Amino acid sequence: MKYLLSSQPQTIHFSLMENFKELIQRRRSMRKFTPELLKDDDVALLMRAALMSPSSHRSCDWNFILVDDKAKLQVISECRQNGAAHAADAPLAIVVLGDPTVTDCWVENASIAALMIQLQAEDLGLGSCWIQIRGRMAPDGTPSGEVLRELLDIPEGPEVLCVVVVGHKGMERKPFNEEHLQWEKVHINKW
Ligand SMILES: Cc1cc2nc3c(=O)[nH]c(=O)nc-3n(C[C@H](O)[C@H](O)[C@H](O)COP(=O)(O)O)c2cc1C
Repeated sequence: MKYLLSSQPQTIHFSLMENFKELIQRRRSMRKFTPELLKDDDVALLMRAALMSPSSHRSCDWNFILVDDKAKLQVISECRQNGAAHAADAPLAIVVLGDPTVTDCWVENASIAALMIQLQAEDLGLGSCWIQIRGRMAPDGTPSGEVLRELLDIPEGPEVLCVVVVGHKGMERKPFNEEHLQWEKVHINKW
């Protein structure tokens, strides 16, 4: 892997979206990817978005592990009983960690960073999917996060919240249907 992560992306990025309204409607979970690899600049933009995330007291307790090694992607795809199989064919998995020894808001901080990655991916025309790790188990009962700790040499302290897989979209997904919005869940002044 040779991502140019210490510098700003070198090429000018043109957004594929008209606006943010369209972007959030078009972002759908993508579980099928083409074999095409990601460009260095696109990966740098994904990480730029993550590192710009808001965090409690600006604790910035997150860490991100970029995994493009096929054997490791295979292990990630099997670290949960269900719901992670698509990691095997993704060109990139971003393991998103927070640190409960730094802040009690680690889940919130890491969640926001994961979503920032997903939104930036969509803006680049890439597909992404959140794979939940916290609270999940491998088929043998080992916590999924511990499987990844051993696989990726994660030290004690940081915890894996999720893995965001990213790649070129391998199938069409319809944008979110406005008619399915649950407006009844929005309350005004009281429940
Ligand atoms: C906290 C969280 C956990 C999720 N876990 C998984 C997962 O483990 N595997 C998966 O394929 N999708 C997972 N997803 C994606 C959801 O299934 C998906 O966002 C939801 O079904 C709505 O579909 P959409 O993203 O296409 O709009 C997760 C999403 C969130 C926010």
